[in-house]
Amino acid sequence: MHHFEELQEKFETYFNHRHFPETPSTLYDPAEYFIGLGGKRIRPVMCLMGNELFDDIHAESYPLASAVELFHNFTLIHDDIMDKAPLRRGKPTVHSKYGEPTALLGGDVMLVVAYDYLNKIDNLHLKKIIHLFNQTAKEVCEGQQLDMDFEKIPTVSLEEYIHMITLKTSVLLAASLRLGAIMGGAGEGNQILLYEFGKKLGIAFQVQDDYLDAFGDPEKFGKQVGGDIIANKKTFLLIHALETANPSQKFELERLLKSDESAKVEKVLNLFRECGIDAWARELKEKYIKEAVGHMEEIAVLSVRKKPLLELMHYLVQRDK
Ligand code: IPE
Ligand code: IPE
Ligand code: MG
Ligand code: MG
Ligand code: MG
Repeated sequence: MHHFEELQEKFETYFNHRHFPETPSTLYDPAEYFIGLGGKRIRPVMCLMGNELFDDIHAESYPLASAVELFHNFTLIHDDIMDKAPLRRGKPTVHSKYGEPTALLGGDVMLVVAYDYLNKIDNLHLKKIIHLFNQTAKEVCEGQQLDMDFEKIPTVSLEEYIHMITLKTSVLLAASLRLGAIMGGAGEGNQILLYEFGKKLGIAFQVQDDYLDAFGDPEKFGKQVGGDIIANKKTFLLIHALETANPSQKFELERLLKSDESAKVEKVLNLFRECGIDAWARELKEKYIKEAVGHMEEIAVLSVRKKPLLELMHYLVQRDK
């Protein structure tokens, strides 16, 4: 059994090379640039962990994990265009460095290269792997569209928010685990339980992401802090603040949502603080962690095998980047 850092290193050894042709460099250099920025590589590691929960890591889990990471990076390049984000992983985003048309195309070609990696797999269950991969990719698109739709409406419920983040974020974490589990020869029942674990963990992961977008340390976070506030994203922070604010705070918050004054971020952050957002964030994460652990407990393997995944879960919801 391997811990997160060990698997991160194993994955990096396999993955750390050029993924794209040399020419035209105007297309492929931006793609290489983005992959080279690193990132936490959570999803490929989850793929390897999903495998190792049931059996030794299969050689073909590495191309599978690579496909997942490339798909994730493709979504990030396009997400940064959609979110008008200037920074990612502490560096300029692809569209701000190379322009939107190239960022679109660089993302597109990255998705295609992800399928080249899937094509390296020669497994009995390849059809199932591709089905889950594609199902997940469609759901991520649905979640991303809902995320943008929500920017334009005044309020959304906590339930609608959870539905949206499940689609845009948590299904990919869940699928990463399940894809690995398929490689590890897991039975259907265990696969489903692991997928549900990943979904609940993924919700807590996006809650932490949304928290950090508001309150993260800009040095560590690597993304523009306050970006969600500027874009009027309907995150749990805003939903909770609108629900708990007194009438004058609510009036001010609603005014700020329509304004683009320079102190908007700072003022909204203060209102979030006044509405007790820290305690609420902890509560929300704990609720989903509990549910995740419940699913994990039901998985029929020795509990020592579950340790790395449970450790990873705690890291993901406490992380500062
Ligand atoms: C960012 O994912 C996108 C979200 C779903 C919040 P990560 O936080 O895993 O990004 P990297 O790959 O480590 O940069
Ligand atoms: C992104 O959610 C989810 C996907 C990229 C599919 P966010 O927009 O919150 O992710 P970050 O904060 O830009 O990484
Ligand atoms: Mg974004
Ligand atoms: Mg987004
Ligand atoms: Mg975010």
